[in-house]
Amino acid sequence: MYRTKTCGELRASDAEQTVTLAGWVQKNRRMGGMTFVDVRDRYGITQLVFNQEINAGLCEQAAKLGREYVIRVTGVVKERSNKNPHLATGDIEVIATELDVLNAAATPPFTIEDDTDGGDDLRMKYRYLDLRRNAVRSNLELRHRMTIEVRSYLDKQGFIEVETPVLISSTPEGARDFVVPSRMNPGQFYALPQSPQTFKQLLMVSGFDRYFQIVKCFRDEDLRADRQPEFTQIDCEMSFVEQDDVLSLFEGMSKHLFQTIRGIEITGPFPRITWHEAMQYYGSDKPDIRFGMTFVELNHLLTGSGFAVFDQAAYIGGICAPGAASYTRKQIDALTDFVRRPQIGAKGLVYARVEADGSIRSSVDKFYSQDVLQQLKEAFAAKASDLILILSGDDVMKTRKQLSELRLEMGNQLGLRNKNTFAPLWVTDFPLFEWSEEDHRYYAMHHPFTSPKPEDLHLLDTDPGAVRANAYDMVVNGVEIGGGSIRIHDSALQNKMFRLLGFSEEQAAAQFGFLMNAFRYGAPPHGGLAYGLDRWVSLFAGLDSIRDCIAFPKNNSGRDVMIEAPSNIAQAQLDELHLAITNE
Ligand code: AMO
Repeated sequence: MYRTKTCGELRASDAEQTVTLAGWVQKNRRMGGMTFVDVRDRYGITQLVFNQEINAGLCEQAAKLGREYVIRVTGVVKERSNKNPHLATGDIEVIATELDVLNAAATPPFTIEDDTDGGDDLRMKYRYLDLRRNAVRSNLELRHRMTIEVRSYLDKQGFIEVETPVLISSTPEGARDFVVPSRMNPGQFYALPQSPQTFKQLLMVSGFDRYFQIVKCFRDEDLRADRQPEFTQIDCEMSFVEQDDVLSLFEGMSKHLFQTIRGIEITGPFPRITWHEAMQYYGSDKPDIRFGMTFVELNHLLTGSGFAVFDQAAYIGGICAPGAASYTRKQIDALTDFVRRPQIGAKGLVYARVEADGSIRSSVDKFYSQDVLQQLKEAFAAKASDLILILSGDDVMKTRKQLSELRLEMGNQLGLRNKNTFAPLWVTDFPLFEWSEEDHRYYAMHHPFTSPKPEDLHLLDTDPGAVRANAYDMVVNGVEIGGGSIRIHDSALQNKMFRLLGFSEEQAAAQFGFLMNAFRYGAPPHGGLAYGLDRWVSLFAGLDSIRDCIAFPKNNSGRDVMIEAPSNIAQAQLDELHLAITNE
């Protein structure tokens, strides 16, 4: 038998038991006539003691063990005289009587410890060693527990997990497709699903009523900390539902996850704000509402006083940073540099400090009377020692986005974005379409299967940009955790959508004929949503990047540096697939 106990379970109450443990050598040290070896497995670390007086040969052998050797040890559990409170097994040690080296190990390229000396690239190249580290392994354990809770919750709610195919044709979710050439169909390609959207809708036509799937999705898009080219969705769909039904069921599931995974009881409904409100008050469709500092529009107050920058602006807005009036000139200059960075693109920053006596000193004092500045203070309900920060610009949306970046930065600087505080909300009523200046056409803001709000249907022909969608996102701490919509289930309306999105009748038929056809055979009203599992897990684990909760992630260039993918393929394989690589 390789082991009778794991390396994480022995306690003082196990003293005098004979046990066999197996694991990896974390470290060993010689002290006087003893060799101490820390042996590690998934469950923890146990200290082994080899005593020269008991068995000199064994003690010598233990001293020669290298890091990460795989060993089996039999010995007797003893309560320690000097206990280690930092280790779960710190009350005991095992006095070894037998030692087998099950496998030797080369010296690992970085230390397998919580604070490793390995850089990102090295850890990714040797990810299987990185995964031996507590920090990474515990993220995967958390991920596992979340999927168990999700499955059990949805099962109890009558959902059925159904697998949908991976070799499909394009599902438009706004990214590029990854494609796979078909050997048996020369010159033709499958696309990997950006989501199982059309299949889950077909399952509703089939009468499954409540579907879910924990499913890999593939999107060829620029990568960021919260995006991977392959990621996992908790994908769900329900029949005979309205928006409220979907939101309340998944609010229930979210509360269940907060409670079971993080021990946080969230009482009361999640706040709901419309997309318009989110843009107006936070300049973002995924607002972080852990803190206030909501936007106040100031056009009416600050134009017409001769300050050219404001007089020419389409939008003037500000935030009030509590207690930040003590910011030095240098700190404010740094904020100005921050908003001027090309990624943000603001031209400048105006500030107004509320002094201890309630008076205001601003960077534009010469243009405004103390009376106007007092009105400014009132507009924010600002108090003594607050700092008002104002941006302006000639494009309303762009300026709001810049102010949103400044708000988040101030939230960071003032310590208002605590990773252990969670503030979920729903953002609803997204616009159905997004206008592209570049392409001079509308795109679906969510996807082409999202239904317009019934009360806005009449605007479809006259003012498509003003039509609101029956779509919603769940946002937690400024992260879009999930999103969905009530779908179109009427083929005539779906056809109209395709037309508005610039598909000709032939194109729509070629790409989505199967769905339009299915809708002819009795499609129930339906809707659903998909959560990003990787984002949920990283939020709960307090991670900065979703990479850290994925066993074998891709780097920022979309590469797996461990297996060296993507890679070239042999000419024979190219020939078989009827593919030729051109030099362009
Ligand atoms: P959407 O495109 O909003 O909707 O995706 C749903 C959720 O998936 C997560 N997500 C990602 N996570 C990691 N890396 C990515 N590249 C990535 N892209 C998306 C986000 C997002 O909220 N079919 C619809 C859902 C529906 O309408 O039911 C869909 O895929 O957390």
